[in-house]
Amino acid sequence: MTNSIVIKKKLKNFNKEIIVSGDKSLSIRWVLFASLASGNSKAQNLLISEDVKAAIKTVRKLGIKVISNNKFCKIFGKGINGFNYKRNLTLNAENSGTLGRLILGFLINTTKPIKLIGDKSLSTRDFKRISDPLSKFGGVFKLKNKKNLPLTIYESKNLRPISYLENRGSAQCKSAVIFAGMRTSGTTLIKAKKSRNHTELMCKYLKLPVTVENKKNYDLIKVKKVKEIKPFDYKIPSDISSSAFFIILTALSKNSKLLIKDVNINPTRIGIISILKKMGVNIIFQNQKTYKGEKLADIKIEGGKKLKAINCPTNLNSGAIDEFLVIFLVAAKAKGISYFKDLAELNQKESPRLKWGAKILNMMGVKNIVTNSSIKIYGNPNLEIRKKIIIKNYLKDHRVFMTSVIASLSFGGEWHIYDKDSIKTSFPNFLKIINELKN
Ligand code: S3P
Repeated sequence: MTNSIVIKKKLKNFNKEIIVSGDKSLSIRWVLFASLASGNSKAQNLLISEDVKAAIKTVRKLGIKVISNNKFCKIFGKGINGFNYKRNLTLNAENSGTLGRLILGFLINTTKPIKLIGDKSLSTRDFKRISDPLSKFGGVFKLKNKKNLPLTIYESKNLRPISYLENRGSAQCKSAVIFAGMRTSGTTLIKAKKSRNHTELMCKYLKLPVTVENKKNYDLIKVKKVKEIKPFDYKIPSDISSSAFFIILTALSKNSKLLIKDVNINPTRIGIISILKKMGVNIIFQNQKTYKGEKLADIKIEGGKKLKAINCPTNLNSGAIDEFLVIFLVAAKAKGISYFKDLAELNQKESPRLKWGAKILNMMGVKNIVTNSSIKIYGNPNLEIRKKIIIKNYLKDHRVFMTSVIASLSFGGEWHIYDKDSIKTSFPNFLKIINELKN
């Protein structure tokens, strides 16, 4: 059986309503919080993808019972100190940076050594950014090449709270430190550059001793020791990062319209919407509501509008960090030269994504100038591709695969895209929804 797809035709215009799957960041966080709750928690619409399954396997290995099927998931938490496991346990975060990094915060008070491993892509990623602050709490780590997985976290003594400056805009670093602070007597202080705030919102909903003061460019977070997490049910809203591929497919398609239902529009996640609006895309939020602190809406997009280049303000970077690859396709069709800067973090993702963005654009014949942290894209409103393009050896980065599919359906050409299985990490029914748009 082949694990690649071939696309030779552009998509015809469409007018549809779709539902995309549950948010990955919220799904993983719910699994982690519920695993430490004192009682049973249930989730509906949990994303059933490889990353979330890895989170479920991880908490099971830590001694927590989980029942899950396609409709719901139930976690039988045994309280804040309910993890129960043997010495030298191995946990596998597979492809998930979020799982691998966040779980280390909860494991800071381990009484036995635990080894953390991951797949080929995760094993190249930076874990020093987590072990450094967690070592200040008193955690003891050994990492491969002082930076990577496999790592071992050893039993720690005399944990103490810390003051931490998070200046990358990384929600994973911020969240790992919040979790570790929850395990420590005293008050941990975090000054964090703005990034997605799902952890803080869940803490607020659960009434945990975590406070947040929002300043203009950063947040001040105070964390105290958590004595109990009450069990909690959660209906996971749809993922804006998965919706992004369909928002952009519509934006690039003449006479198309799309409605995406019940999407999480947390203000720290909608950088893509601000960027696309500045580029001339017609997007509106309908039926806005709030659910357990998270904002939701139906997103309506009208395609085929004239697209303008953007000099992308860097304050939108962290809110769009997972969407840049596919945003570059809009820049490829916009009138003028777009400029995206201060994006070194993009090369720290499942693949070096800034490099992959430039590679895909080069294959498409779109002029661009890329550095380690920026890219200039020379747009062409009449862009049409007429050649054969092969996308492979991209460390199975799900977002490289999905971006390539959107490019092929929007600009034509003959695309051979390898490693279709990569979408299983975040969005297993991506191709099914593409097919719905064809009919
Ligand atoms: C995530 C945070 C982001 C993002 C990732 C999910 C999270 O990573 O890229 O896909 O759920 O906390 P960083 O925190 O490394 O920026």
